[in-house]
Formats: sequence, structure tokens, C-alpha cells
Amino acid sequence: MDTQMLKLLHRRKATRAISERPVEAEKVEAIFEAARLSASCANNQPWRFLVLDGDDPEALSRGREALSGGNYWAKTAPLLIFGYSKPDLDCQIAGTREYYLFDLGMAVQNILLQATELDLVARPMAGFSPGKVRAAFGLTDEFEVLVAIAIGYEGDLSTLSEKHQQVSQSPRQRKAMEEIVGFNAPVGHVQE
Ligand SMILES: Cc1cc2nc3c(=O)[nH]c(=O)nc-3n(C[C@H](O)[C@H](O)[C@H](O)COP(=O)(O)O)c2cc1C
Repeated sequence: MDTQMLKLLHRRKATRAISERPVEAEKVEAIFEAARLSASCANNQPWRFLVLDGDDPEALSRGREALSGGNYWAKTAPLLIFGYSKPDLDCQIAGTREYYLFDLGMAVQNILLQATELDLVARPMAGFSPGKVRAAFGLTDEFEVLVAIAIGYEGDLSTLSEKHQQVSQSPRQRKAMEEIVGFNAPVGHVQE
């Protein structure tokens, strides 16, 4: 079945080529409204976002300095976001099931999808230093800075390394449905 949602999800394939063209304020607002509307445990809404853009080039460059070398392509994106949270902002069930990172991730997915619908590229990144982000912006250690997201209009593939140009143009790799979904029985290791 072909659905609007599946079309959007197919479009989301994240290239690394992002142009320097600024993103309009109303698009940025829609992106964070999408995050705000995300589901969360007991409606705790534990996600927090540090948004860096051209309005404060100095702050944006401090954020860019926290990115790892492999994420060179994100250092010219007009919008750089860091998503962070901490355990006591969300449900902590039976001492082990903590939901703050799960819920942050759900809000990040909304950001990616809303950006895609607005014809933007949005690529999440683990390749950055949370310590550098905390130090550069005065965030206390209790916060887990989990993800960076580069957002902007699609740029020129020639700005990327050969390897990244190739990956950007190759078909998406995904596990087969039966590897990840079990109907009426679990997939993966089960107890004897
Ligand atoms: C938590 C997380 C961390 C990621 N870190 C990086 C990163 O540091 N650099 C990068 O180029 N892509 C990063 N990605 C993007 C993934 O490589 C990409 O989503 C994956 O290869 C699937 O490709 P697609 O998003 O185009 O479907 C990250 C994605 C996620 C969800």
C-alpha cells in the first residue's frame, strides 16, 4: 500500500549535501511545533533543543566546533540543533526503564519529518562532542546532549567527499521485514 506517510518517509533519505541558504523563520517554527506535538511518557515532554542559526554567527560557530571531523559537511548548514534532556524530566519506571532519551528521539523524528515535508534536508548526528557543547553553552553535566541535527536546503553534491557523494546516490539499505517484525511470535533470540 502506498500512503502519504510512506511517501514522506521515502523522501527523507538524508543526503549530506546541505546548502548555506538560510531557512525561513516560519519553517523553523513549524519544525519545532512538530517536535512540541510529539508523544511522551505521562506527557512529560522531556526534550530540549538548542537551536543555532545565522542570527548569532558566533554561537553557531561554537556549535560547529563541537562536530567531529567526519561531519565536516554539517559545518556549513544554516541550522544546527542539539537535542538534550535528563533522566528526571521523564518517567523512570521500576528504577531501570528511563524514557527521556526515547521521548527525545520521538521528538527528533518529528523534526526530521516536518523538515522533509518542507523540502529541507535534516540529518541527525551522533558524531559530536557533548562535552564541548556543554562547555560552549554552559549546560550542566546532568544533561545528556544526545544528538545534533543539521538542517538546510539540499546543496551541491560536489561539496562532499567522494565516499559521501557515492553514499548519497546509492539506494537505501534496510533490513528485511521478517528480520525486525514478528507476527504472533518474537523475532530474535527467544528463551528455550
Ligand atoms: C542517532 C543517529 C546518529 C547518526 N549520526 C550520524 C553522524 O554522526 N554523521 C552522519 O553523517 N550521519 C549520521 N546519522 C545518519 C545515519 O547514518 C542515517 O540515518 C542512516 O545511514 C540511514 O540513512 P537515511 O537516514 O538516509 O535513511 C545518524 C543517524 C542517527 C539516527
